[in-house]
Amino acid sequence: MERDIPHQIVEDLERSSSLTSPRLDPARADFAQAVLAGFARKPRSLPCRFFYDARGSALFEEITQLEEYYPTRVETALLEAYGAEIAERMGDASVLVEFGSGSSRKTSLLLSALGRVTLYVPIDVAGESLAEAAEWLSERHTGLAIRPLIADFTKTRTLPVAARRPRKLGFFSGSTIGNLTQADARAFLANAARLLGRHAAFLVGVDLKKDPAILIPAYNDRRGVTAAFNLNLLERINRELDGDIDVAGFAHDAIYDEAQGRIEMHLVSLARQTVRVMGREFRFAKGERIHTENSHKYAIEEFQTLARSAGWTPVHAWTDPHRLFSLHLLGLA
Ligand code: SAH
Ligand code: AVI
Repeated sequence: MERDIPHQIVEDLERSSSLTSPRLDPARADFAQAVLAGFARKPRSLPCRFFYDARGSALFEEITQLEEYYPTRVETALLEAYGAEIAERMGDASVLVEFGSGSSRKTSLLLSALGRVTLYVPIDVAGESLAEAAEWLSERHTGLAIRPLIADFTKTRTLPVAARRPRKLGFFSGSTIGNLTQADARAFLANAARLLGRHAAFLVGVDLKKDPAILIPAYNDRRGVTAAFNLNLLERINRELDGDIDVAGFAHDAIYDEAQGRIEMHLVSLARQTVRVMGREFRFAKGERIHTENSHKYAIEEFQTLARSAGWTPVHAWTDPHRLFSLHLLGLA
């Protein structure tokens, strides 16, 4: 994983590496750099990849079980209904590379449908999820070799040597592509094309544009699980970066920006307050927001146009009767 850590932040990290704080490591330095830079800019923002520590990954799994959160349920149903057809269209290959694999539950359905995959390469920033998912999958798919990569999938430039086989398949589920801006999604797709190589097939789950009356509750559920997921980012800062943030002083908010076609998640300061992170002070006005996530929604044709602009050929798109979610098969010549 490539990292670019400014000197000042490395010095801060070394200074704060007292008995009470964990030792300097690249993942912590990456988080520190993102938080200090994100709190210093206005409007304030934090990259959503930092949601997924052990607690955040567990909360995400809880979100996937919520009645309001349709994406996991509908994508799973699409894989169950069309698995055989998807496998036939993806064609034969022995390697499956997955980006943002999380618990790999949907992967198991795809692997069963594909039948001939002998090597699975899940790529995820969440090391705990990768280890747990590898154990879960290997109990169900005997003979499957698993080579996990703990890495940022937007920066992954090489695959393990074992994956250097003539034809590769890719999987990017859950509409995690929607968490990237359109420019970043295009760059991601172009890099995935380089990684997967000639004759690759890539299955991408994409959430569709729809009535905000369905979208908003999916990101602001009654039980408050999504709120806990969002607020865990502040708890993670307290745990890992010597933060003193009063988490109860912030509230979860999710809005749908129709013009940009995206859900935005924010943390809103409930009062005027000062927070400290790694010895730095940040003042928040009452009502000031930290933008923590975008979740872009696409029309089928919009996503196909984006994929084409990154060098992929759209082959087929499957969707459910209510047109909530889509699974896109992309190919490379
Ligand atoms: N694909 C799974 C998980 C989706 S949750 C599903 O559909 O259920 C998003 C996953 O992507 C998490 O496991 C998170 O850790 C991972 N992730 C988010 N941003 C990432 C990044 N930049 N690089 C690698 N993994 C990332
Ligand atoms: C992983 N990602 C696609 C989820 C989404 O729907 O954007 C993350 C999430 N955020 C809030 N709820 C779920």
